[in-house]
Amino acid sequence: MDSLNPAPADPLLGLMLAARADERPGKTDLGVGIYKTEAGDTPVLRAVKEAERRLLETETTKAYEGPHGNPLFCEAIGELTLGGLGDRHTAFTTPGGCGALFIGMQAAKLASPDARLFLSDPSWPNHEGIAAALGIETVFYPYVGDRTGAPDMDLVLKGLEGARAGDILLLQGACHNPTGTDFSAEQWVRLAEEVEKRGLLPFVDTAYQGFARGLEEDGANVKAFLERIPEAILTYSCSKNFGLYRERTGALIIQAPGAKAKDAVATQTAALVRASYSMPPSHGAAIVATILNDAELRRSWEEELGQMRGRLNGLREGFASALVRATNDDSLSRIAEEKGMFSQLPIEAEDTLVLQREKGIYMPGSGRVNIAGLKEDRLGELAADLASYLVR
Ligand SMILES: Cc1ncc(COP(=O)(O)O)c(C=O)c1O
Repeated sequence: MDSLNPAPADPLLGLMLAARADERPGKTDLGVGIYKTEAGDTPVLRAVKEAERRLLETETTKAYEGPHGNPLFCEAIGELTLGGLGDRHTAFTTPGGCGALFIGMQAAKLASPDARLFLSDPSWPNHEGIAAALGIETVFYPYVGDRTGAPDMDLVLKGLEGARAGDILLLQGACHNPTGTDFSAEQWVRLAEEVEKRGLLPFVDTAYQGFARGLEEDGANVKAFLERIPEAILTYSCSKNFGLYRERTGALIIQAPGAKAKDAVATQTAALVRASYSMPPSHGAAIVATILNDAELRRSWEEELGQMRGRLNGLREGFASALVRATNDDSLSRIAEEKGMFSQLPIEAEDTLVLQREKGIYMPGSGRVNIAGLKEDRLGELAADLASYLVR
């Protein structure tokens, strides 16, 4: 081990710790992507508490569940994402969305050992990190014309011109891209055509179903996309929409071109799971399965999810108008149209450090902010602090 040098610090986790350690009462943490209330808390959802109470009373064993984890959970996530698992699908309970990314990426590499990962710019550092850990080369494709705004399909397709058959195309479900902008229904259709034309393996990362418009609305484009193409990998996180962050609850769903290929990929992926964490944790998945299979708990969960969505959309409206007022720049009104927890501010990396030092405002160097970290009663003040640093 003498030959090892320390790993570079994870910038996002470093930012989270720095914000926590800052004792200034007016600090604003717009860094790591977790939902927060106006008071800055990330509470346990009521439906989760009730499901846990029931599980505590009824659970009769802690015996192993096997590499696929909880079948009721897998079916319930299959229902939420695809309208139901078919005979071409195999599903795994995973330790969070990141566990699904890690195993799914390994399965993709097994199917196509020379595959490269085509990743949007911007994306999340962990996509690149997981690919690097597995020895998969990353190629970035442009997503937006400048650092903000909606996805530009001409640029995306140009960026995919060098993609070869078997390469992995990473796409992101509703609210997942750090810009807070998603592909439109038409753009998803165009992407399906491109995937077919080039023989790519689409890999769709989803973690925010329900944060943009509603559960069904947010899942519709990915569902229609998967119906159009023969094979794909889908990763799902329950960290955000069920608030289960530390329980590490996610799913990996693999869609094979036929039943025979499904059996092969299911057993190969089970072997990958067995060779890493062996079997997934059960508690979070049991909570989700309990909620989704009980009408009353599901209604309560959807209500709270709706409240989270409503708070985010309300904050977006207030923040966008405060920024437009403070900067006289109408282009920032786009923040009200964007969806989910993230938007990207037009700011230089070095200025994010100045804001951190002088005003206690925390965001990564990319200017990607967590809308849930905003405080409704301080939007004007924050916009005024940011105004002179925003690049126009
Ligand atoms: C790229 C990416 N996708 C999905 C997730 C979902 O999170 P989790 O693993 O907590 O379910 C994360 C969180 O770090 C992530 O970085």
